Amino acid sequence: MLTIDIFTLFPGIFEPALRESILGRAIARGLLSVNLHNIRDSATDKHQVTDDAPYGGGGGMVMKPEPIFAAVESALGAPPAVPVILLTPQGIPFTQEKAWSLAEGSGFALLCGRYEGVDERVREHLATEELSIGDYVLSGGELAALVVVEAVARLLPGALGDEEGARDDSHSSGLLEYPHYTRPPEFRGWKAPDVLLSGNHAQVRRWRREQALRRTLLRRPDLLSRADLSDEEKRLILEWKRQAANSGNK
Ligand code: 6GU
Repeated sequence: MLTIDIFTLFPGIFEPALRESILGRAIARGLLSVNLHNIRDSATDKHQVTDDAPYGGGGGMVMKPEPIFAAVESALGAPPAVPVILLTPQGIPFTQEKAWSLAEGSGFALLCGRYEGVDERVREHLATEELSIGDYVLSGGELAALVVVEAVARLLPGALGDEEGARDDSHSSGLLEYPHYTRPPEFRGWKAPDVLLSGNHAQVRRWRREQALRRTLLRRPDLLSRADLSDEEKRLILEWKRQAANSGNK
C-alpha cells in the first residue's frame, strides 16, 4: 500500500478526483491511501490565518510557515520519515521516471503552495524536494499535486486492468506512443491501416515501433537522445533525417 499525505488549503479540490476512475479504484482496492490535511486546521490564531504580506513589500500574499510545519509534523512526525514534496513552478520538472521512483517507495507527502509564494523556511527546512509539472503558472499547487497522484497511482501493480498497460505508455519507453485504431475499419472514408487488420503480429509490432519513432522524431526529437534504440533504429532515424533534409533543400 502506497500512502500519500496531501497538505493543502483546498482539500475539496481533491475529493471528487479521488473517487473516480483509476484513482478511485486504486483506493478501493487498497493499493493506495490518500490522506487530505487542511493546513488551515493547524493555524492556531482565532481567525486561522495561513498567509501574510511579504516582508520587504510588494504584492501578493505569502503562506506562513507555522501552520504548514504544524500540519506536516503532527501528521508525519518531526522530521517526517517520508519525502516531503513542495509543488511550485520553481521545482524541478516532474517526469515519468520520477513517477516510477515515487510509485516504488512506501509513500510521500505533497505540500501545495499557492502561486504567490510559500515562506522560504518551508522550502529550506521542511520540503525535501520541489517539483513543477511544466512551464506555465497555476494559482496553486493543488492541480499539480493531483497530476503527481494520478501519474503515480496508475503505476501501482494492479491499478490498471492489465498489468502490461503502464509499461507500454508514452514516455515509459522513452518514445511517444504509436497511433491507435479500433472498429470500424473505415469511418467517413478514413481507413485504419491494413497492417493492423492483417493478423500478422510481427508486422504489427514493427509498424507500431516505426510509428512511435517517426512521431517522436517529428514532435519531440529531444526525447530520442535518451530513448533505448537498436542500431537498426538509429540507422532508420538517420535515414529519415537525411530524407527530410533533402526534401527541404529542393
Ligand atoms: Cl507545481 N505549482 C504551480 N502553482 N504552478 C505550476 C506548477 C506547480 N507546475 C507548473 N506550474
